[in-house]
Amino acid sequence: MIGILGAMDTEVRTLIAALENKKEETIATMTFARGTLSGKDVVVCKCGIGKVCAAMCAEIMALRYGVSHIINTGVAGAIDKRLHVADTVIAQSLVQWDVDTSALGDPIGYLSQLCQIEMPCDSELVNKAKALMEEKNIPHLLGTVATGDRFVAKEEEKRFLREQFHATACEMEGGAMAQAATMNGIPFLVLRAISDTADEGASMDYPTFVEKAAAVMADFVLDFVALL
Ligand code: ADE
Repeated sequence: MIGILGAMDTEVRTLIAALENKKEETIATMTFARGTLSGKDVVVCKCGIGKVCAAMCAEIMALRYGVSHIINTGVAGAIDKRLHVADTVIAQSLVQWDVDTSALGDPIGYLSQLCQIEMPCDSELVNKAKALMEEKNIPHLLGTVATGDRFVAKEEEKRFLREQFHATACEMEGGAMAQAATMNGIPFLVLRAISDTADEGASMDYPTFVEKAAAVMADFVLDFVALL
């Protein structure tokens, strides 16, 4: 069984609509939709925005559904200047930019439970996603995705994410799902399409482009699942 999670309805509704033999159950306010997608057993969930929701969702997928892989799909703010709205990012690794025990001597982003800052995505999933992006001519970058419990909408914060973590894009769930998956030994991947450039224009751009970007990513995930 493959777990697929997205924070918002726009990010998962095409996937849920495409499920065959759909069965739903709600746990901790999150509805888990099981079924088959492109012939594969999957469970899809709209987890809600933010790190706690994503970590809880991933944990439920691990314990209740015994998922073999977890994919997080959705939108992101661009940190790398080469990215434009609706381009995509395949995460090679995730960081949680808002974890900070530097006052105790740790580097910023250090996850003490894992003794690491960066959580690498499964290289086989990354390579398969890259090959399919190339085949479908979808503009994409590979890189580090920075997760935190804040919508980034300042050039200054963008610079911090670039300089501190060499981040390619930012969002609010991937790094939390990555930590939960890592702690359960489950291979994972984060795929995101750009909805805004995480700067002072982001509050305007996000509502304008979120639907378009989320659809790009969900359509891709539909085809991607067939390869797993
Ligand atoms: N998701 C989409 N755009 C974002 C941004 N600018 N900051 C955090 N999460 C996002």
